Amino acid sequence: ETPTRALFMLFGGVGDLALRKLYPAIFNLYKKGSLSNDHFALIGLSRKSLTDDEFRAKIMDSIASEADSQDQAQEFASHFYWKSHDVNNKDHYSDLKELADQLEQKYETEGNRVFYVSMAPRFFGIVAQSLHDQGVLSTNGGFNRLVIEKPFGRDYESAKELNDALTSAFHENQIYRIDHYLGKETTEAIPVLRFGNPLIEAVWNHEYIKDVQITLAEKLGVEDRAGYYDTAGALRDMIQNHTLQIVSYLAMDQPNSFVDTEIRREKVKALQSMEIYDADGVKQNFVRGQYGAGPDSVPYREEPDVPNDSNNDTYAAGKIVFNNHRWGDTPFYIRSGKKLADKQGRIDIEFKKPLVDIFAKGTKQAPELQGNVLSFYIDPKIGITLSINTKNSNQGMHTETIDLGYLQSDQRAAKVPLPYERLFHDILTGDGTYFASWPEVAAAWKFVDPVQKLWDSEPGDFPNYEAGSMGPKAADELLARDGNSWYWPN
Ligand code: BG6
Repeated sequence: ETPTRALFMLFGGVGDLALRKLYPAIFNLYKKGSLSNDHFALIGLSRKSLTDDEFRAKIMDSIASEADSQDQAQEFASHFYWKSHDVNNKDHYSDLKELADQLEQKYETEGNRVFYVSMAPRFFGIVAQSLHDQGVLSTNGGFNRLVIEKPFGRDYESAKELNDALTSAFHENQIYRIDHYLGKETTEAIPVLRFGNPLIEAVWNHEYIKDVQITLAEKLGVEDRAGYYDTAGALRDMIQNHTLQIVSYLAMDQPNSFVDTEIRREKVKALQSMEIYDADGVKQNFVRGQYGAGPDSVPYREEPDVPNDSNNDTYAAGKIVFNNHRWGDTPFYIRSGKKLADKQGRIDIEFKKPLVDIFAKGTKQAPELQGNVLSFYIDPKIGITLSINTKNSNQGMHTETIDLGYLQSDQRAAKVPLPYERLFHDILTGDGTYFASWPEVAAAWKFVDPVQKLWDSEPGDFPNYEAGSMGPKAADELLARDGNSWYWPN
């Protein structure tokens, strides 16, 4: 791999995300040689006034646990520059352009520019447009890539408005919408597990799959983020983006080749074939929750900065039906919530049972065969298991279900590159495979909007689940109605 030369401009340069995730990710790419060690520089920006040295000290802190030596950290940090910047001030962009031109010469970064906007969402549009209008984009043959953090709008309308602002300044193929769940090992493995294994892909449809369950469960509560979270809720925070992106990789048809343009085409098709519910449909197919007190927890409404009559959802579950041939009447159940019993992202694919249980037929014994279940563990456990039926070793013909599995050891899982490192790598190489395209984001909002609208119009019956449990009862009933139940935890 040829190391990429690049000049980064990071808006929100000493923000929490930058210091905790982004700099360590860039540093790892530097260490591993994906980012040119000599030919890169980064300009950190925000309204704060810092000297370059002060900024570099923060960088050194941020990468301390990744660095092999103090010298290495120092050499890395010497490529960092600070600029105090007001996103609404045009002159500041002209100054930025000047500094960028200088650093580009100094570090010979070949005109490659990465603009990373890690700020409050209301600034995404103005930054993108001003970068374009004030001439900060590179014009000498390098690439211009714009990276946008979440959330991408709060409904379809606002997302479209934001997207219009971005695309008036950047082409769709220059825009990288971050969804860190797409940088997780298991999410990235879904296409390989499917399209690399005829054994799996041959049965990947409504004829063999009974239902699909996607769970993004968190143990943590709202922590200190109520200011944001109480205006978002689980549906916007976890379902519209992470969960539906995972759904798209699971539901899509096979792309012609594994390149971003082809993959995006198939993902969009899948997302656009989700049935959009009217208000009655929402009532039947979606469940919301808000946590109450639990053994180690105060109720959501008593968390810091949460209004004591908050109607916000800290849990959301739903049933997706696809109007297409592959999925027919096979439902996808999705759920995500805070303060649940365990932290685990996982996908459970439940296959249908054999049509006839010949081992039970004609005998007095109860049917024992189970439907196979293929489980993908996303995080923190990483891996895949497949439950299959076999004979148990006792005398006589009795069957039992065993798990074939590959779960990474904690040791190995700890070495897996973190999502932001993977995603930065893809930004540097110009690979949009694991980023959400606009039509995907639009389709996801169109699916979620009627749910949110109904929930906003009627107060929830909150709190309706105990902190530390697996969510509201109604989410179990949602599956029970179809004769199904959550596979995990069992
Ligand atoms: C973020 C949400 O996108 O994902 C958070 O805003 C959530 O509310 C987080 O806690 C979960 O990510 P992870 O990687 O910890 O599972």
